Amino acid sequence: MTQRTIEIKSPAFLDETVLMAAGNLQACFPVTERPLALEIGCGTGHFLLEMATRHPERNFLGIDIYNKGCYKTCSKIDLHGLDNVRVMRVEARFLLAHHLQPDSLAAVYINCPDPWPKKRHRNRRLVNADFLRAMLHFLRPEGDLYFSTDFADYANDVADLIPTLPGYRNCLSAPLTTELPGYPISKYMRRFLDLGQPIHFVHLRRRPDLSTSDLPALKVVAGFRARWGDAAHA
Ligand SMILES: C[S@@+](CC[C@H](N)C(=O)[O-])C[C@H]1O[C@@H](n2cnc3c(N)ncnc32)[C@H](O)[C@@H]1O
Repeated sequence: MTQRTIEIKSPAFLDETVLMAAGNLQACFPVTERPLALEIGCGTGHFLLEMATRHPERNFLGIDIYNKGCYKTCSKIDLHGLDNVRVMRVEARFLLAHHLQPDSLAAVYINCPDPWPKKRHRNRRLVNADFLRAMLHFLRPEGDLYFSTDFADYANDVADLIPTLPGYRNCLSAPLTTELPGYPISKYMRRFLDLGQPIHFVHLRRRPDLSTSDLPALKVVAGFRARWGDAAHA
């Protein structure tokens, strides 16, 4: 069943046309000099709200393909009067390919992305070798990448990629951890933790000495959902 698309009138909501007119993401925030952090798949905004409240010195862009999630996230941001958050309804790899500037992110957060548990669907997962390589272009030197999942198989697959990605330093003492003190709990994390299931975390950092010109050419592989016109996520 196709759901009605909710019109989002919030000042925190960033329409693609507004972004294109502004020229770049930072120009869409009232204070353009703050370092930029990105949350991919912000859902209904619990994690984004917490991070943006804790870090007023940073700008945060939350993206999701889910219209109602963007609406709920914007409502939270408006309620708390935060001026350091923008929310876009956009597919992650579309954002990378069209709107994100190289070396521009101080951090990227990907919490509980869709796990695609069936073997035949695993190639739909967002976080894979191509994605992690592409993110090296968009993180600034010493920019952080956080990935969390309740799904052990997804966590292990990402952990196995770490030795193949020399552009990152692993910030943990092991490839994975189930404890990341101080890291905000997202809505999905809370759901799984309340069921007694662990959350697995990866924390990588772009090496300070890695120059973007030393990276292999940027390749953004189109996502399973290239844009947001997917009725299942209206
Ligand atoms: C399982 S939910 C997790 C939501 C939130 N991160 C949390 O931990 O509570 C995954 C979210 O990612 C969004 N999503 C899935 N694939 C995406 C993509 N390729 N680009 C942007 N958002 C995506 C979904 O719409 C959904 O809101």
